Amino acid sequence: MEVILRPDAEAAAKLAAKLVARQLRRKPDSVLGLATGRTMERLYAELVRMHREEGLDFSLCRTFNLDEYIGLPVTDPHSYRHYMNEQLFRRVNIDLRNTHLPDGMATDLGAECERYEELIRSTGGIDLQLLGIGESGHIGFNEPLSSLRSRTRDKSLMPETLAVNSALFGGDVEQVPHRAITMGVGTILDARFILLLATGPRKAVILAKALEGPVTSMVTASALQLHPACRVILDEAAASGLQEKSYYRWIFENEPEWAPYRG
Ligand code: GLP
Repeated sequence: MEVILRPDAEAAAKLAAKLVARQLRRKPDSVLGLATGRTMERLYAELVRMHREEGLDFSLCRTFNLDEYIGLPVTDPHSYRHYMNEQLFRRVNIDLRNTHLPDGMATDLGAECERYEELIRSTGGIDLQLLGIGESGHIGFNEPLSSLRSRTRDKSLMPETLAVNSALFGGDVEQVPHRAITMGVGTILDARFILLLATGPRKAVILAKALEGPVTSMVTASALQLHPACRVILDEAAASGLQEKSYYRWIFENEPEWAPYRG
């Protein structure tokens, strides 16, 4: 795992966007794993800017989102499909038929989860998986005690998660679906590269546990420590609880790979 610190949320999102763009330029038909949440909005805005101003091409790429609420139609403004369409898909030259999210309206949820896993497999697996982190330590919607080998399945969300995510439902926790389909921790760990972006002071406590604490299903993001190619990009506020910040800063200042991104 490599942890990179940037001064603020804008700089962190821009660096993450540059790494996504690099992946797309190296392999235009990349399979991207995508995430939702407020943190990702800056990153997607930057990708849209790169598309418009620098010709970043999405025409061949395929995408799989981590998760979707159960029971929200895709037309619902709170569905993750709606979020993705608005934040990214509608604003770049991606073929919507190449964009996939679990179907939270499926009548047979088990079959839908298997279909999703199989589709990821038959598309060749995920090249680059983007992740945020929830305050419960979740990646996707893998709440505490999710098996670290779990696959795509339906999950009940913690009351704490419902409360945090109610911000995107006008603050009304009653409106937040209690269940979601999510890629499992095992599904996420299968990606070739992983990029986690987290910003803001509210993430500081959980990031200290996930990155520098023991690997435990109580904090599913800690399983990223087992991945051979995982990068974590944080702003200083999100990193404030970490012990090895000076080492992480040293990496960014000294590793040759980061030279093009330092300016
Ligand atoms: C939701 C998503 C997660 C995301 C998290 C963080 O719970 N299922 O994938 O990481 O939100 O969201 P935010 O960026 O708004 O803090």
